[in-house]
Amino acid sequence: MRLDRLLSNLPRFSRQDARLLLVSGRLRVDGEVVRDGRFEVREFSRVELDDEVLQAGKPARYFMLHKPEGCVSATRDAEHRTVLDLLDEPDKHELHIGGRLDYNSTGLLLITNDGLWSRRMTLPGRKLPKVYYVETEQPIEAHYAETFAKGLYFRFEDLTTLPAQLEILDTRAARLTLHEGRYHQVKRMFGHFQNKVTRLHRESMAGISLDPALAPGQYRALSAAEVAASG
Ligand code: URA
Repeated sequence: MRLDRLLSNLPRFSRQDARLLLVSGRLRVDGEVVRDGRFEVREFSRVELDDEVLQAGKPARYFMLHKPEGCVSATRDAEHRTVLDLLDEPDKHELHIGGRLDYNSTGLLLITNDGLWSRRMTLPGRKLPKVYYVETEQPIEAHYAETFAKGLYFRFEDLTTLPAQLEILDTRAARLTLHEGRYHQVKRMFGHFQNKVTRLHRESMAGISLDPALAPGQYRALSAAEVAASG
């Protein structure tokens, strides 16, 4: 919300009071003096008038979860347990998932109450990498890499996937780096070669790597550096 709006919404200030306060230089947002009423104040920001707190700002929360198999990347589901069931946190209804994983996929999942941060992370123009470890039913052939690098046409969405990098690790194992997140993208890319994905694990996304200390089902808060890496 704009700062002038936030002020004039308070019963004690009229619009005129708000304008005068703004020019006076007595208002601070997150410690910085703000004189421009158009300044966008986030719900996480602390707003002060001299030494008085007008808005405390709620804490922004960022978590990484090692998603196990057999749970849904959704905030609620009538049948299955969801990834939010694995979090022991208050006000879970405020949290959402940045970049889902399929029911049987495992690995890094980011969960937050900061919608701006998660939206920025998935903005198509930013092309932030997502790295997957993949195992398949059939041998992975060297020519897959060329096809993935050129992009594959997805008829349903009528689009060609962005260049993706494939590193073959073993006969039936590879690491795949994508720069977008289409529905079932990894499975559909291998499906192009009639090669079924039998294991799919996200190792990192947007410069944040899954902490190897986290067992499947465990989670921790992101560090400030991790939040900044992708934001
Ligand atoms: N691609 C898939 O097919 N599934 C996932 O869970 C993630 C990417």
